[in-house]
Amino acid sequence: MQKPEIINLPKFEDPRGNLSFIEEFKHIPFKIERVYWIYDVPGGQVRGGHAFKKQQEFIVALSGSFDVVVDDGTIKQTFSLNRSYYGLYIPAGYWRQMQNFSTNSLAVVLSSTHYSEEDYIRDYKNFLEYLQVR
Ligand code: TYD
Repeated sequence: MQKPEIINLPKFEDPRGNLSFIEEFKHIPFKIERVYWIYDVPGGQVRGGHAFKKQQEFIVALSGSFDVVVDDGTIKQTFSLNRSYYGLYIPAGYWRQMQNFSTNSLAVVLSSTHYSEEDYIRDYKNFLEYLQVR
């Protein structure tokens, strides 16, 4: 089974400014079906707080910093994202929450699926039950 992990991205350092990029199936293990981003987060707010049945995702802090707490139903791991040349891969079936957003932070999320509310598990008890039966 795949696990959440930090993936380092290519970084072309240049006196004119640095450049990084992501190619599907090369730097991340899925086809990108959707891209969304989270921005203008007021201090102290929390995003996420759910799991996905099918969606895999890759999250990059394009600007600023935030933490992603990933929970497999037993163990919680916190990943701090604060550079645009690496990101966090999260397989399907993990509860995850995004928090501690810095001012002007920008989170981009690459998703393996189109948006589908049916793919969300928004209740933590349902998540624990889902882990038993999947
Ligand atoms: P949601 O994923 O619940 O936000 P978060 O996990 O950060 O708290 O998304 C909030 C709302 O935005 C959701 O109710 C529907 C809408 N939405 C879309 O329509 N398409 C998308 O790709 C996403 C991510 C959200």
